[in-house]
Amino acid sequence: MSIRVGVIGCGMIARFHFSGLEKAKATVRWICDLKAENTAAWVGTGARVTTDWREVVADPQVDAVVVATVSRLHKEICLAAIAAGKAVICEKTLTENAEDSWEVVSRAEAAGVPFFTSYMKRWFEAAQQAKRLLPSLGRIVSTHVRSHQPWGDTWTGALPAREPGAPASAAPSHLVSTYGGGMLVMGGSHVIDLTLYLLGRPTRLFALQYIPGDRDFDLHVSALLETPTDGTISYEALASPLSRTGFLRDGWDEQIEITGTGGKLTLLTPLWSHVEQKTALLIHDDEASGQRHEYRYGVDSPFDRAIGAFVADIAAGTQTAQSRITGYEVDQVIASMVASARSGQRVVIPWRG
Ligand SMILES: NC(=O)c1ccc[n+]([C@@H]2O[C@H](COP(=O)([O-])OP(=O)(O)OC[C@H]3O[C@@H](n4cnc5c(N)ncnc54)[C@H](O)[C@@H]3O)[C@@H](O)[C@H]2O)c1
Repeated sequence: MSIRVGVIGCGMIARFHFSGLEKAKATVRWICDLKAENTAAWVGTGARVTTDWREVVADPQVDAVVVATVSRLHKEICLAAIAAGKAVICEKTLTENAEDSWEVVSRAEAAGVPFFTSYMKRWFEAAQQAKRLLPSLGRIVSTHVRSHQPWGDTWTGALPAREPGAPASAAPSHLVSTYGGGMLVMGGSHVIDLTLYLLGRPTRLFALQYIPGDRDFDLHVSALLETPTDGTISYEALASPLSRTGFLRDGWDEQIEITGTGGKLTLLTPLWSHVEQKTALLIHDDEASGQRHEYRYGVDSPFDRAIGAFVADIAAGTQTAQSRITGYEVDQVIASMVASARSGQRVVIPWRG
């Protein structure tokens, strides 16, 4: 039987969820948003329309909810959905801090409901091939992770001197009220997820975070992360002023480069909003053979692949596609980076679970 889904939040990201749900042959029973203009595209598809997400969560005919609202609402909606026994697919970041994310994922674990935080980049075929090839690298000695995203004229004009912290009196910026922060939670979280997917949990880190004095969000975060067995990871997330860099020359310059005793893997991921036209690339340099192999795949949206796997799990009542605690793990690294940047100290990541 087709699973019945309520989609809560129909803004910019929602079209990818609708696409994935359609391809997975799920039935969209509800669409929910405060703004009629954002639900308009899906009116007439047979789904009920509401502005009240509680109506969706309370419907016994709903098997699963997609939570794609602004990030600050994720916690409340996820907890209510879990309490109602619904499976959940939640957009990233899961919540706005690691404690809240832990509360959500542990409630989902206790309830036994399928629960997914939708970090879709691990669903690129190239990322999954990187994971398969990792053992051939032997001992991993170095990893570089970079997400440079084209943020236009962010850096032009007179930026004030380096000064951490938001202005006390100002209302939150659009980025903070929608996404919970700047570069770290927006682009930076995705490459943290890819790093965790490929290498597992780091143990300690040291981070720097640049928040201009007139803003309440960051433009640049850099960090060094230590792993128990896989060497040091250097990490950078940057709101880049450049528009023609990157492997597709579109300003999107995002990659993970892992070097081991047996070779090197370089995973290059494309602009998230263009995954129906652009795909990831994986380069494998094999030390023994001296060969370089480039893995190029046809366009196959990682959103569709992720949602397809999540829906299959939800239909089967299982949790195999991805751990329930994925969203917590990313938020824990983010929290530790922020703690390190604020204190100026190296931080032991206080992992839970
Ligand atoms: N995976 C990715 O690459 C990616 C990319 C962009 C955004 N996101 C995530 O998706 C989420 C949404 O981001 P977006 O860019 O679509 O933002 P958006 O502002 O375009 O959409 C958010 C929607 O939530 C709606 N909303 C707000 N309060 C609501 C409420 N009480 N009930 C119902 N709807 C409500 C808004 O009206 C809006 O339509 C965020 O958590 C963001 O971090 C993920």
